[in-house]
Amino acid sequence: MRTPIVAGNWKMNKTVEEARELVSELLPLVKDMQAVTTVLCPPAPALLPIAAMLEGTDVELGAQNMHWEANGAYTGELAPAMVKEFGKYVILGHSERRAYFGETDESVNKKILAAQANGLIPIVCVGESLEENKASQTAEIVSGQIKAGLAGVSADLVIAYEPIWAIGTGLAATGEMANDTIKVIRAVLAELFGEEKAQEIRILYGGSVKGSNAAEFFSQSDIDGALVGGAALQADGFAAIAAAAQNEV
Ligand code: PGA
Repeated sequence: MRTPIVAGNWKMNKTVEEARELVSELLPLVKDMQAVTTVLCPPAPALLPIAAMLEGTDVELGAQNMHWEANGAYTGELAPAMVKEFGKYVILGHSERRAYFGETDESVNKKILAAQANGLIPIVCVGESLEENKASQTAEIVSGQIKAGLAGVSADLVIAYEPIWAIGTGLAATGEMANDTIKVIRAVLAELFGEEKAQEIRILYGGSVKGSNAAEFFSQSDIDGALVGGAALQADGFAAIAAAAQNEV
């Protein structure tokens, strides 16, 4: 049995004060959801104050990105050890990082290696563009991203399949479509890590997940939770998705 993960990627939203407000509304709503791992990924300045609020709760904390180097002259970056001080997870290779900040499978690979070396659990994002989807290249694109991104890493990670055309658009994939691609990803993981490990790795779906469509994803055989953007910015929106995951267990 894979414990589902519902992770909120707040992206560049919420000041520390707003983050505190959201978390204080959220904690009572998710406190009894023991069958689901909930993870919050606020912007970097909120990591420390939110870590303090999450102490003694089952809600986990993660960062949205980090550099692979341990320290040095990398203006604006976060080192793995800095993330590890507060968080357990780190989102890596999000399509927005790939599109706007030049991240490649190669840099994502270095980041995964660094995250694992520092005891962090990476949430590795893969997904195809609309053009690639229309050209029926989805399986090929995500398999390529997994093989290149995961070269030499261990199986201690989480994958998030996020079709780029579904992110922030309100246009979610169907549960069945997402499940088909996630099965392809699991088959590639089996090539890399062996069948047993591949069956243990959590693979999330991301892209316009909300309370009203979450169950459609979580009822699928291979979807083990969600990486949530927009709907995670409101306590009731995120809690509804976590509740849907809890109900499927
Ligand atoms: P969305 O974003 O839920 O707003 O579509 C998902 C993501 O980018 O992780």
